Order: sequence, then structure tokens, then C-alpha cells
Amino acid sequence: MKIAVLTSGGDSPGMNAAVRAVVRECIYNGIDPYGVKFGYQGLIDNNLYKMNVYSVADIIQRGGTMIKTSRCQEMYEEAGVKKAAETLLANKIENLVVIGGDGSYKGALSLSKYGINVMAIPGTIDNDVACTDYTIGFDTAVNTAVEAISKIRDTSLSHNRVSVVEVMGRNCGNLAISAGLAGGAEAIVVPEREYSVEAICEKMLKGKDRGKLHSIIVYAEGAGDINEFAKRVEELTSLTVNVTDLGYIQRGGSPTAFDRILAARMGSMAVNLLIKGEKNKAICLRGGEYVAMDLEEALSMEGVFDEENYNVAMRLSI
Ligand code: F6P
Repeated sequence: MKIAVLTSGGDSPGMNAAVRAVVRECIYNGIDPYGVKFGYQGLIDNNLYKMNVYSVADIIQRGGTMIKTSRCQEMYEEAGVKKAAETLLANKIENLVVIGGDGSYKGALSLSKYGINVMAIPGTIDNDVACTDYTIGFDTAVNTAVEAISKIRDTSLSHNRVSVVEVMGRNCGNLAISAGLAGGAEAIVVPEREYSVEAICEKMLKGKDRGKLHSIIVYAEGAGDINEFAKRVEELTSLTVNVTDLGYIQRGGSPTAFDRILAARMGSMAVNLLIKGEKNKAICLRGGEYVAMDLEEALSMEGVFDEENYNVAMRLSI
């Protein structure tokens, strides 16, 4: 038996730990593991190699992905999917573990139609895969953002300024919500909820009357133009407003223990399910339990927004 593993889409801290888990679980069970370089692009280009126990030594603590990743446009076309499947079959590999976000899951589902047995593991800092409570990399990214927000808070307080901090997440506000809640933000702006800049400013001015010296606003990248928002805040409050885009630092760094454990459990589970002959599943953590869900069903799920954390954050940010 052979199992290939690839990482796809934006990288996330803990992807390496997941690759390690897949490879080591394969070796433990006498299966040949193959690493695909640059995600689906590596399948299209026949860029894969046999891995061994040493291939994944000393990577558990490293951010990024040692087998590389890419955003592969060809996988959105039938010809690309066919080519990717043919590469696997030509190498006599019928099993594939895909680590990525829901775009990568769609690629995996397409490959399953060509007879490839796939397992999908959620790896993205966005925490926007509906079937799982957590994606690998999210916890690390939240911690990175909170650390940055704490530093911004220091200087914001020294100067009595308003700091608007942009975090990633594509169209999803979950990273902003967790970072804002943990960072004690005065406001969190996310694409999923309408907001009134006037109401946010009114709250800040009331806070100022009470003696509050500065404010932090966490702004999700999907919520629109942060500079226009900041300009409007400045106009309405006459306070000095600074904008910080945390950018790609959120995607790097050593994964937290939580992300490493998530990666280890999910990678191990994916391989064990393939050994049992199961296929086309999404590995999820749901309500504290690791479960495997039908991939097509997992992809049809909606509702990733962290409503409860958002509501609590709103109530606490008086
Ligand atoms: O999906 C992860 C993510 O970092 C998003 O938060 C962000 O919108 C996007 O990837 C950035 O993608 P790229 O690396 O292609 O600029």
C-alpha cells in the first residue's frame, strides 16, 4: 500500500506536524509514504518522492510546510484533475491525504471521482472549514495576533491613540473574533456582521469620557477597506488613529501545542482510516471528538461563524 500526502493553499503552522504524523503512521504500519511537492501542482507536474522516517525529522516545531504548497488554478478544470489523478495512478498510488482549506477539499473530492481514495485534513489559519471546530494553524495564528495586539496596546496607551489592527481570515471573521476577544478589543469588525462606524465611535467617545485613554479595534481583512474605516473613525472622533496590518506574520511561526496535537491526531486518523479501507472522508474535531465525515457532506456544510465568541466579545467591550 502507498499513501501520498500534500499540503495545499495558504500554509499554516502545524502543517509540518500533520505531514510528520501521516508519514510516521504510514511507516509504523509498513506503508510507503510519498510526499507531493507544491500541493496539487506537484501532482500535475509529477513532482513527488518517496519519504522515510528521516524525511520528517525535526519538523514538528517548524512553521510553513516542508513539502511546499501552492494555489493551483489547473485543479479547477477537469483536465487538471485528470492529469493529477493520472500521476498518482501511474505511480501506483491510490491513497492521498490532503492538508488544506475547503478549496483544497474540493480538489480532493474531484480526485475521488477518478478512483483516488482521499482523506482531507483541515489546515488553514482562517478556521473557516465548516465541518470542524478547529483547523490546524488557527490557534497559532490567534496567539501571534494577540501577542502583536498586546504590543500595539502598549504604544497605543502611551500616546492615547486608537489602533485599528487588520487580521487575515479571507471572508471569515473567526480569526478577528478570537484575537479581539483574547486581546481585549474595544470593537471587532467582521464581514459576517453589519456594523455602524458611528456606533463604534460613540462607544469610544463614551469610554473617553469615563477616562479610557486608548482603543483597539480588530478588523477582519474581509470587512472592507481598513483605511477608509480608519479615516472615518478619525473624522468622527477627532482622535489619532493608527492602522497596523499584521499580514503574513500570522501565517508563520512555530505551531502551538494545541495545533501540533490536532495535527498529530488528524494525520494519524487519516492513515488508519485508509488502512481500514475507508475513503473520501474529512477528518474533523467536533465537540472535543475526532470524527470522520463524508467529504461531500462536509463540503456542503455551512455556518463557520463563531457567533458565541462574537457575542461575548461585543458584551465585554463596553
Ligand atoms: O487562507 C489563508 C490566507 O492567509 C487568508 O487568511 C488570506 O486571505 C489568504 O490566505 C492570503 O493568500 P495569499 O497567500 O495567496 O496572499
